[in-house]
Amino acid sequence: MGKLEDIVSLCKRRGFIFQGSEVYGGMAGTWDYGPLGVELKRRIMDTWWKYFVENRDDMYGVDAAIIMNPRVWQASGHTATFADPLVECKECKNRFRADKIAEGVGEGVTSEEFWNLHVKCPVCGKENWGPIRKFNMMFSTHVGAVLPEDVSENPELAERGVAYLRPETAQGIFTNYKNVVDTVYPDMPFGIAQQGKAFRNEISPRDFILRDRECSQMEIEYFVTPETWEENFDKMLALQHDFLENLMGLPAEAIHELDVPEADRAHYSKRTIDLMFDYPNGTEELMGLAYRTDFDLTNIQRESGKNMEYRDKKTGEAFIPHVIEPSIGVERLFLAVMSAAYSEDEVGGSSRVVLKLPERLAPYRFCVSPLLKNKPELVEKAREVYKILREKYGNVTWDDSGNIGKRYRKQDEIGTPKCVVVDFDTLADDTVTVRDRDTTEQVRIAIAKL
Ligand code: GAP
Repeated sequence: MGKLEDIVSLCKRRGFIFQGSEVYGGMAGTWDYGPLGVELKRRIMDTWWKYFVENRDDMYGVDAAIIMNPRVWQASGHTATFADPLVECKECKNRFRADKIAEGVGEGVTSEEFWNLHVKCPVCGKENWGPIRKFNMMFSTHVGAVLPEDVSENPELAERGVAYLRPETAQGIFTNYKNVVDTVYPDMPFGIAQQGKAFRNEISPRDFILRDRECSQMEIEYFVTPETWEENFDKMLALQHDFLENLMGLPAEAIHELDVPEADRAHYSKRTIDLMFDYPNGTEELMGLAYRTDFDLTNIQRESGKNMEYRDKKTGEAFIPHVIEPSIGVERLFLAVMSAAYSEDEVGGSSRVVLKLPERLAPYRFCVSPLLKNKPELVEKAREVYKILREKYGNVTWDDSGNIGKRYRKQDEIGTPKCVVVDFDTLADDTVTVRDRDTTEQVRIAIAKL
């Protein structure tokens, strides 16, 4: 595992991730994915979707709107409680999340508790704090045709059409629960999954892509009978470990379970286990698994007046299902995958950076190149090989820049598992050299057997 600055530097140098709106000086808490990053991100998301949705009989997908009726956030409790403790330094006027700058305090910290800790301002070093205030993290926007001049004539219109960018994808699942039940008639237990953007006006975005204002979540609401929540919770937890360790290539010893105490749990959760990951800058939450009880469906039933019960197909019994929710941020998973894959070693007396990504995640599976760029017969043959591999695997890249050593170093850095080189022997016997990224071993293989 490298240092965070090495990973940030590699991400920029090789086109994985750029600062959002960089050309205008950036936009805090936003990041853009470049040609290599978008490939890795997509593969992470596709692998998750295959594992949790496509390959299972009990999971169904949805893709809901980002802007939802504001009543969604009233019913879910986000309007009232989706807030972080904000504190302002009265000297330098910088604002911070109180629970992030004081050791050992939770999100419910009071002004007195915070003042008693005698925390120094991380920017100016003084100790002169204002009161703790609750800061709601939802981004608001206006929907519909209300002009600023309409509002100046009639201030009451300012509230008309106020809506929010969703702070979690989960609510798009809950609001479609009844639609899914009424259209696919799933057996119990069943899950509804969604991947998509979520927005949080974080007080202090930080640590590269770890805490963003715009992120992507992959969430499942798994609907169970109330009596079976514990066994389903345990099964879902085991699946998360399997996915992270065996498909994403994260070392098991770098993942830790944190049984979140009641005071730190989200308002809807009766039990939460956070899976913490040893990132380069310390151990942080990678994902959460929560037992949301029947909190959301009961709230929706009350707020909408629509029946949210599920009727058991055999017994005819009607009840509001309980919910197990695994929720993971794509950016946090991306950073964990990069951190686990990043390594430095020595090859032939010189040091190299190598990204040991699992083959299923690598932006390119193969790189094809002619040994020499200025030999048309080699280039032509290499193009033939490139075409064959491309048709078979899709994500194959071509590289004829610099010398072969430099090409290997570049492909190592972007995590390409195999480099295929066409040389003069290829013209004679239709074999190529295939070089392995991790061992640097080279073998000779017939083109037909690639
Ligand atoms: N629906 C439940 C929910 O949203 P959460 O613990 O607030 O729970 C779930 O978020 C996951 O989403 C986190 O474990 C993390 O992976 C990701 N996440 C949340 N806020 C994030 C942010 N500001 N930047 C990046 N990822 C974030």
